[in-house]
Amino acid sequence: MCGIVGYIGGHEATPVILEGLKKLEYRGYDSAGIATLAGSGSGIRRSEGKLVNLEKLLREQPLSGVIGIGHTRWATHGRPSEINAHPHKAGPVIVVHNGIIENYLPLREQLKQSGHIFKSETDTEVISHLVEEKLKGTSDFAQAVRQALAELRGAYAVCILNEREPGTLIAAKLGSPMVVGLGEGEFFVASDIPAILAHTREMVFMEDGEMVVFRAGAVAFSTIAGAPLDKKARHIDWSPLMAEKGGYRHFMLKEIHEQPRAVRDTIAGRLLENEGDVYLEDLRFSDEQLAAVRRIVIVACGTSWHAALVGKFYIEGYCRIPVEIDIASEFRYRNPVIDGTTLVMVISQSGETADTLAALREAKSRGAMSMAICNVLDSSIAREATGVIYTHAGPEIGVASTKAFVTQLTALYLFTIRLGRAVRAIDAPTGQGMIASLKKVPTLLEEALKLNADTERIARKYMNARDFLYLGRGKNFPIALEGALKLKEISYIHAEGYPAGEMKHGPIALIDEDMPVVMLAPENSAFEKTLSNMEEVIARNGRVIALCSEGDQEVKGRAEDTIQIPRIDEDLDPFLLSVPLQLLAYHIAVLKGTDVDQPRNLAKSVTVE
Ligand code: F6R
Repeated sequence: MCGIVGYIGGHEATPVILEGLKKLEYRGYDSAGIATLAGSGSGIRRSEGKLVNLEKLLREQPLSGVIGIGHTRWATHGRPSEINAHPHKAGPVIVVHNGIIENYLPLREQLKQSGHIFKSETDTEVISHLVEEKLKGTSDFAQAVRQALAELRGAYAVCILNEREPGTLIAAKLGSPMVVGLGEGEFFVASDIPAILAHTREMVFMEDGEMVVFRAGAVAFSTIAGAPLDKKARHIDWSPLMAEKGGYRHFMLKEIHEQPRAVRDTIAGRLLENEGDVYLEDLRFSDEQLAAVRRIVIVACGTSWHAALVGKFYIEGYCRIPVEIDIASEFRYRNPVIDGTTLVMVISQSGETADTLAALREAKSRGAMSMAICNVLDSSIAREATGVIYTHAGPEIGVASTKAFVTQLTALYLFTIRLGRAVRAIDAPTGQGMIASLKKVPTLLEEALKLNADTERIARKYMNARDFLYLGRGKNFPIALEGALKLKEISYIHAEGYPAGEMKHGPIALIDEDMPVVMLAPENSAFEKTLSNMEEVIARNGRVIALCSEGDQEVKGRAEDTIQIPRIDEDLDPFLLSVPLQLLAYHIAVLKGTDVDQPRNLAKSVTVE
């Protein structure tokens, strides 16, 4: 975890880095720091807590210099504190780092024996000392960095400065994301695009094992081992505003409202309406290859895992190919049964989740066909999977995933059509019908967003409950899980999702007059059964908040509160049910005064296992 930014050019580095770090706070926010070089010296400012604390410190003790590096941290080794905040300095060497150095303990011991004195508890500090140590044997800064990096095991994206070479900035990557921005006589480096988008759109994506040296207005890419590389820049057309709050109080609320646009963009250009098929530009599997697939395993974490659970219904239902769903952190430790006829699909918004990336690598090493559903262009997962379906949600900043989720559902539905057509399980008219239903989703999401006021009223009524239960059947069960997760993570209220029919096997004991039960009860093939489950709750004095279909009277007459969602083909109910559940969690969190966009203990992109 963590975010890093580096700058070298003709302007003051501190404001550029600070602005960049603000865009990366979603990657971690328990401490932050900046270092700049000026003349033959350096200045470092660090503070515990969010960036506002660092900003305040910088107002009191400004830092000048046209070369600098910055960091926003999410603690892995060493508790959040000023002393553990980056940058870390050893002699003339200053380092910011994202990732984990796995062999830092033996390195630390070795360096201590050579006289190095460590100030922090972090793994990162060994990097600065190791480079300092290597500088004893060579005056070539880049060479010293190469030698030091060669001794590290683990993952890193690092930016390194040397007081003795005040015109040089070095960065390198192994296992953690890094992008380089090319400006007019200035260069930027960061963990993610939004951090530098305000300054340049020409970006170079760094690959594992690569290094970049910025010196005297020039940039030189190479492998860490030293082989020169000719890397090409890509033009990124995101507007900086896309990554801003756009007038909403929180990123999460903005992102909830972006869902119709996000789904539209994810569908755009992909529908072959006449053929009843879809075009997935980066899927990279022929019909013959898809026809050879005997089993599909979908692997993901958190919200993306919930999307996977819905995907199983789509794929099995239409394509009649068995689908297993696994949690990424479990997958590779259970010796999964995988062979060349297994398609392993990973789903990840960020494309950097360490557990999911490790699962993808495990699957590939066992010979599986691999693909990813991913939101971040050229992220590690997107690059390593053979096929990719990009969701076009745009940058998701709120830690609680919303628009990424509905675009993942969209991608899964698109994939189902493509696979079904390839394996001849879906004929053209069925494909046309599925496309027609999917095309309705953006407009109906707009309708669902009009439920904002209703959900706020319900949020006020139930905000003080200690626990919530969410119940749904079939493909709405994963939505119950997702609703409960949203509430937990941003309001800190305990919530659980259950298959509605499973409630009587245990959780029913929890139901009393204090327990709000969110029932997902749209009119579908499981409607009667869901109604019975709702009655079981009512009979035990549980307080039912029901999400039902527009115009429904049966549920409305029985539940304490109802939210009516637009009617759609029942396959696509999960899309529309998600909106009020997101809004309910959002409003409860706002009413409780929690930090909605950056809930405690969480980070947007979990790049540690
Ligand atoms: C919850 C949430 C997390 C992520 C999970 C996977 O709102 O955002 O549960 O879904 O950490 O992240 P990605 O999709 O980036 O792999």
